[in-house]
Amino acid sequence: MADDTLIAVKPEIAVKARINAARHAAMTQAAATDPDRFWAEEAKRIAWIKPPTRIKNTDFSGTVSIKWFEDGVLNASVSCLDRHLATRGDQVAILWEGDDPGSDLKVTYRELHERVCKLSNALRRLGVKKGDRVCIYMPMIVEAAVAMLACARVGAVHSVVFGGFSPDSLASRIQDSECIVLITADEGRRGGRKVPLKANADEALRSCPSIRHVIVARNTGTAVAMQDGRDHWWDAMTAGEPATAEPEPMGAEDPLFILYTSGSTGKPKGVLHTTGGYMVWGSFTHDNVFDYREGEIYWCTADVGWVTGHTYIVYGPLANGATTLMFEGVPSWPDNGRFWQVVAKHKVNIFYTAPTAIRALMRDGDGPVKKHDRSSLRILGSVGEPINPEAWLWYYRVVGDERCPVVDTWWQTETGGILISPLPGATAQKPGSATLPLPGVKPALVDNDGKLLDGTAEGNLVLLDSWPGQMRTVYGDHERFVQTYFSTFKGMYFTGDGARRDADGYYWITGRVDDVINVAGHRMGTAEVESALVAHASVAEAAVVGMPHDIKGQGIYAYVTLVAGVEPTEALRKELVAWVRKEIGPIASPDAIQWAPGLPKTRSGKIMRRILRKIAANETSGLGDTSTLADPAVVQELIDNRVK
Ligand code: WTA
Repeated sequence: MADDTLIAVKPEIAVKARINAARHAAMTQAAATDPDRFWAEEAKRIAWIKPPTRIKNTDFSGTVSIKWFEDGVLNASVSCLDRHLATRGDQVAILWEGDDPGSDLKVTYRELHERVCKLSNALRRLGVKKGDRVCIYMPMIVEAAVAMLACARVGAVHSVVFGGFSPDSLASRIQDSECIVLITADEGRRGGRKVPLKANADEALRSCPSIRHVIVARNTGTAVAMQDGRDHWWDAMTAGEPATAEPEPMGAEDPLFILYTSGSTGKPKGVLHTTGGYMVWGSFTHDNVFDYREGEIYWCTADVGWVTGHTYIVYGPLANGATTLMFEGVPSWPDNGRFWQVVAKHKVNIFYTAPTAIRALMRDGDGPVKKHDRSSLRILGSVGEPINPEAWLWYYRVVGDERCPVVDTWWQTETGGILISPLPGATAQKPGSATLPLPGVKPALVDNDGKLLDGTAEGNLVLLDSWPGQMRTVYGDHERFVQTYFSTFKGMYFTGDGARRDADGYYWITGRVDDVINVAGHRMGTAEVESALVAHASVAEAAVVGMPHDIKGQGIYAYVTLVAGVEPTEALRKELVAWVRKEIGPIASPDAIQWAPGLPKTRSGKIMRRILRKIAANETSGLGDTSTLADPAVVQELIDNRVK
């Protein structure tokens, strides 16, 4: 059905759009024929201390080397702050909306610049220098953005850890990149509840000897333990500091940040992004995909703990001088109309959220949406997982009153910014399709042997050439970078996603083809959940797969083999769920746990996840070839006892 639904570009949008169909074609052509020239021109959208003369220097073969704008010198915070002072110093940079509907804040570019400079000075006073790593474990408050930009200003590499992660998850991320400072808050707020960030941090820091100082922002005002000499209140640290601070000159290829993300194996990887290319990509994509116009209110509902928050709450919109709305709360509190109440209150023009939120709100019908005035909305965006056509159409019809183009943006932590997406004034949309690549992006489909597939096809989604926002390495482990992304299909970047391409050349992302799952838009490695489960004394073995879930897109389905002699009880099931929440964080809570006396393994001992996925999805009629199993009988046992 969806393939046939084509929603044409609206003439009134195309007329005013930054990019119409003709311009899209011209840009695509220009980026393909002379990337150096195209990107040298686009690089001018950000502020350089020394503009680059070398543009693209990338190689996907051998040891893989990716460099963009390599002889350029810049500081990311200058693009986001200083250069706006003369023209829009009094414009709101960050429009903060609190969890509690009564609370909001407006921070102008001038104020934001001042706050960032003060914190930069404080960081320098604590001894933070270019190249040092600083961990940020914050709620969605203005200080989170200030902390990121202050790190950028002094040349420190920030590593933001999502505030919903457990002390253990925080500790392992701090350890991996040997952060020397942690910036956190007393507590966070979400949906009327408090999140004990400082207490979590204290627990994590028991195993993080690299941390010398902790800066604590006062948010809820609750009393928290402060360790003498190590812990400092943000206010006290910054109060006496001057309101200006010299930006550290950074090479375009100097790191800007590390962001940990889940892969199919092992511990989360520290995805490393550098300064020049990332900033150009963030600005280019924010500007064009959202057809951003001067003075508009732009709202991305992500958390700064994820890449979407990095690129599309902080760096992209601020580089473009936008007013970026930062929301502390959740879509369902105090009620399911909260998103639309905020849209009406702040007259939001561009709204960017995740399919899981759309599906959850859709369940409540049109009432909560219709109650609020959405006439300010102009563009709607979606990100994080495939959006099913039903949810897409509801978003388009009910939320956007069929006026607003929907941009379904496909990208990854690794890609730094959007790669495949419609452009509002140029691309006819099809509900459920991320449509076409942006200029300069070269996606392709390959079969499992790496053979390129032409025309209408379905296969593994790869990228044949580099774009400026691409990750450069895995922090501290370049070999893992090469192995993970460039070894499956030689000379190509492998995304881990599967996709279909239709007769119009449109891409339809079908989901991950590796052992990564997307749970409510949060990326999770099944291996991480498995290792949390087997760390419990009663668990002998665990296998985790994704299962279809109406709201979350995918849920977490765990097969657990208990240690001999341990009884499978309801109490133990609950205990294991709580255990995983404690080990990783609430986002990793298993939705289903099935007791599995045995797991389907090959004779060489490899778990056949394909079978486990099918059983979890209740697709047990076509299990495929099970003849290579060491003990085919376990399959029937698992089918019979499937969790419904
Ligand atoms: C999935 C989030 C379909 C995909 C920006 C990708 C999507 C993973 C879309 C990256 C989309 C993201 N349509 N799938 N529009 N956007 N994905 O690193 O599986 O948290 O590989 O980055 O999310 O998740 P990550």
